Amino acid sequence: MNSSEFTPINKVVFPAAGLGTRFLPATKDIPKEMMPLIDRPIIHHDVDEAVASGCSDIVFVTGIGKESIKNYFSQFRDIVDLLRERGKYEIADLVDKIHTLANFHYAMQEKPLGLGHAVLCAEGFCKDEYFGLALPDDVMISNPPVLSQLDAVRKKYGGSVLCVEAVPEDEVSRYGIIDAEEVEPGIYRVKDLVEKPAKEEAPSNLAILGRYIISPLIFAHLKKIKRGAGGEYQLTDAIASMLKEEPVYAALFTGKRLDCGVKEGWIEATVVKALEDPELRKIVIGAVKKSGLL
Ligand code: G1P
Repeated sequence: MNSSEFTPINKVVFPAAGLGTRFLPATKDIPKEMMPLIDRPIIHHDVDEAVASGCSDIVFVTGIGKESIKNYFSQFRDIVDLLRERGKYEIADLVDKIHTLANFHYAMQEKPLGLGHAVLCAEGFCKDEYFGLALPDDVMISNPPVLSQLDAVRKKYGGSVLCVEAVPEDEVSRYGIIDAEEVEPGIYRVKDLVEKPAKEEAPSNLAILGRYIISPLIFAHLKKIKRGAGGEYQLTDAIASMLKEEPVYAALFTGKRLDCGVKEGWIEATVVKALEDPELRKIVIGAVKKSGLL
């Protein structure tokens, strides 16, 4: 690919229509993406990452009961004015900035028919260009931001790029797993991929994490695939179909992934994020010492 033709991605799709059953009862009335991680919802951390990657437009694919995501990323003048009246300028500025982070768009996934179906719901916004895809459960800590890391691989090799990490063999059945050939350290040309394989059938232990750069060609393949693992329309199956026509690469992720899709991961994420902040670090360490539990 000629680098002068390269246009960095500026749209990122966030599928956020999942039911959040792993977090019930906490998610009975709030979307799992809106669960707090320190001082802001999980999805706000993901949006910060996309914005840091240079993206200007965010497409949320939401479902029923997810109105609070739209409310959160909308302008909320009353509360900002009230905060300013009360002299709380710093927090007012922070709240007022949220709706300006990017241009926010919304697509509706009426039924939870799988990740592939969710991505297809965003077609109207992304049909002519490469776009980023970020699964909100995975909060990534990395520098440069992970979507920038993936886009750098696309700049060099072209095609779609998946973020991967080596996982223990007994965890492969939780992920999309790639069969690939290494083209340089940490970069792979994908030959095939399979969604949630049994340990014995997995082609490798390289698991797809929740970040992708995807070619618009994916939409044609999403329309062709049949229901796959779990009876759902799987993005992994559409990518496997697309790579017969266009190259797909994978890049080993450099950074830390916090899996906020499960309770254990969310607790770990809270601790890790707190330890990163000098003030909160003192509180966490002090609380652990005071508790006398360790
Ligand atoms: C989805 C994808 C899977 C990927 C995983 C990463 O699965 O289908 O390929 O490995 O996200 O978190 P889910 O976790 O939604 O079941």
